[in-house]
Amino acid sequence: MIYETAPAKINLTLDTLYKRDDGYHEVEMIMTTIDLNDRLSFEKRQDDKIVLHVDETFIPSDERNLAYRAALLMKETYDIQQGVTITLDKNIPVAAGLAGGSSDAAATMRGMNRLFGLNISLEELSDLSAAIGSDIPFCVYGTTAICRGRGEVIELLPKPPSSWVVIAKPDAGLSTPEIYGHLDLSKPYEVRTKQCLEAIEAGDYDLMCQSLSNRLEPVSMALQKDIEKLKVNMINNGADGALMSGSGPTVYGLAHKERQARHIYNAVSGCCNDVYVVRTLG
Ligand code: C5P
Repeated sequence: MIYETAPAKINLTLDTLYKRDDGYHEVEMIMTTIDLNDRLSFEKRQDDKIVLHVDETFIPSDERNLAYRAALLMKETYDIQQGVTITLDKNIPVAAGLAGGSSDAAATMRGMNRLFGLNISLEELSDLSAAIGSDIPFCVYGTTAICRGRGEVIELLPKPPSSWVVIAKPDAGLSTPEIYGHLDLSKPYEVRTKQCLEAIEAGDYDLMCQSLSNRLEPVSMALQKDIEKLKVNMINNGADGALMSGSGPTVYGLAHKERQARHIYNAVSGCCNDVYVVRTLG
């Protein structure tokens, strides 16, 4: 039996540069991983099937699940004859902007790479994974990176200054295609990518907090009022910075000290069911 952890990610920045001919948006985003993990196990089978067990009944265990699609992609690309049983223990909220499904897919590719002794580099797995989702190539590395293209062009970055992260996901999820569909690129919004890169390079926590910016945030805020309320609540209760992650609706707040993080947690824990205090992994 092989085990993998699949960490969630947060966006420190997310910029959308233009809409491409293929319908995707050209992005530039800095992402880092946090200590909120799904757990997966992998076991070889006697037959050639992919069997996925998920501990949450509302999550599909067939081709609608990115982990299943990742297993199929691995089997077909590397001509793996033997089947695999995958058990997925979900902790990361779904449809949240935390790349939970993408991280499960990435962990499946790493797990099968080890289970079948393939010795494929992370770089190759990352490139391959772009076929099934834009956030998976980042998740294959599971560290910190600036991601360009439609998300699949990865440049690894140093670990950002370590921080406490309070995660709060409003109860209704948001759909990524819907948010991108509502995006109006003519509306001005400043994304502080360069400042964030400087902050990471210099290990400057305060500058990192000031640089948090996400071009999709106003779009999602217009569709779900809870997002702005959570963000204001976190800032009013001492977060050093707060931002919506990805296309939302999850909002996170950064805190230097654990006590400060617990205070923010207490302030927002009545607002929604999914609230966590974690640390950056990077
Ligand atoms: O690649 P993925 O399946 O994660 O993307 C889901 C949807 O999000 C795409 O179909 C597209 O509508 C939107 N998207 C986009 N630009 C990106 C990534 C995603 O418009 N860079």
